[in-house]
Amino acid sequence: MQLSSLRRVRAFTFLALTILPLLTPPALSSAPAMAAPAPFVIAHRGASGYLPEHTLESAAYAHALGSDYIEQDLVMSADGVLVVLHDIHLETTTDVAARFPARARADGRFYAIDFTWAELRTLTVRERFNPVTGHPVYPGRFPANGGSFRLSNMEEHILLIQGLNASTGRAAGIYPEIKEPAFHLAAGQDPGRALLALLARYGYAGPAARVFVQCFDPVELRRLRFELGTTLPLIQLIADNAWGESATDYDALRTPAGLAEIATYAQGIGPHLGHIITGRDAATGTPQFTTLVADAHAAGLAVHPYTFRADALPSGVPDFPTLLDLFITGARIDGLFTDHPDQALRHLRGLGEE
Ligand code: G3P
Ligand code: CA
Repeated sequence: MQLSSLRRVRAFTFLALTILPLLTPPALSSAPAMAAPAPFVIAHRGASGYLPEHTLESAAYAHALGSDYIEQDLVMSADGVLVVLHDIHLETTTDVAARFPARARADGRFYAIDFTWAELRTLTVRERFNPVTGHPVYPGRFPANGGSFRLSNMEEHILLIQGLNASTGRAAGIYPEIKEPAFHLAAGQDPGRALLALLARYGYAGPAARVFVQCFDPVELRRLRFELGTTLPLIQLIADNAWGESATDYDALRTPAGLAEIATYAQGIGPHLGHIITGRDAATGTPQFTTLVADAHAAGLAVHPYTFRADALPSGVPDFPTLLDLFITGARIDGLFTDHPDQALRHLRGLGEE
C-alpha cells in the first residue's frame, strides 16, 4: 500500500519513538523526541461509541471507520484463553448473572477467570450497564436489548484485523492492554506471557510492529521488557493516586524523574485527560496545561491520553471538536483513545492532518 505523506510522517515518527529509545542508552534518553504532527486515532474498546465494547462487530466497525489502532483489553479465562474484556468481572457487560446465578463469588461478583472459554462463549454481550439499576452507562448508545453479541478472544481479534487489513489494503494496528496482571499471576494465569506468544505467532515482532502493548502496572511492563525480552513498543498507562485503585505511585511516575525511569522500558505513556489539562482559569477561561506532555517528550516518550468521548465531555468543554483542539493543537499529543474514532478522524481532516 502506498503511504500518504501523513502516513510516512507517522511511520517515521513511530520509528523515532519506538526504535530509537531502544537503541539509545538510558543516559541519552532525555534528548528531545519529535512530537507527532498528527495523533494516532486509537479506537477505544473498538468503536465503542456505536456498538457494545470489545465485540468483534465493534472492532470491525472501528476498522471500517479508518482507525489507526484498535484497542483490546485482556483478561484470562479459567483455561488460559485471552478474553477481550475490560473488567475482570462479567456482570457489567454480559448476562452472566441470569445465565450462571450460582457462580458468583462471596462478593457477589462474577469473575471471568472462574469460567472456561466454552462457558464464556455462551454469554450474551450488551452495552455497558449498571448491574444494580440495569441502566446503561451511556444512554444514547447501542440499545440495551439489541443485537446478539458474544464475547471474543484476542486471537479472533487479530484474525479479524489482519483479515480486514488484507482485504482493504489498510494497515490498522492493534493496541492490547494486559488487565490486572498481578491478580492473574496470583491465580495461576500469565496473560503477559500468553500475549507475547500470541503476537509472535501472528507476526508482530520488533520495535516497528503495528502494535502497542499497554498496562497500568509498571512491574508487568518491566517484566515484559527485561525478563520476557520483548522488543515490541510498550506503553505505561497512568492512573491517578486519588482513584485509590492501585499500589503504584502514579504521581511519582508523572514527574520528570518518573518519566525518565519509564523511558528505560517503554516508548510512551497513556495518561488520563486530566493529567494534561486540569481545567480553565476562572477569570480568563484560559486552559490550564500541565507540563506532562513536554516532560514526556523530553524523556523520549510518546503521549496517548484516554478517553475522548463525544457523549461524555469533561466539565466546561462545550463540544467534541473543542476537546480535540485542546489536546491536539494545544497539548500536542501523539495519539488519542476515543470511543468515536470517526469524529476524531473527521476533525483531523479539518485540520489538514488526515
Ligand atoms: O488503555 C487506555 C484506556 O483504555 C485506559 O482506561 O479503563 O478504559 O482501560 P480503560
Ligand atoms: Ca484500556
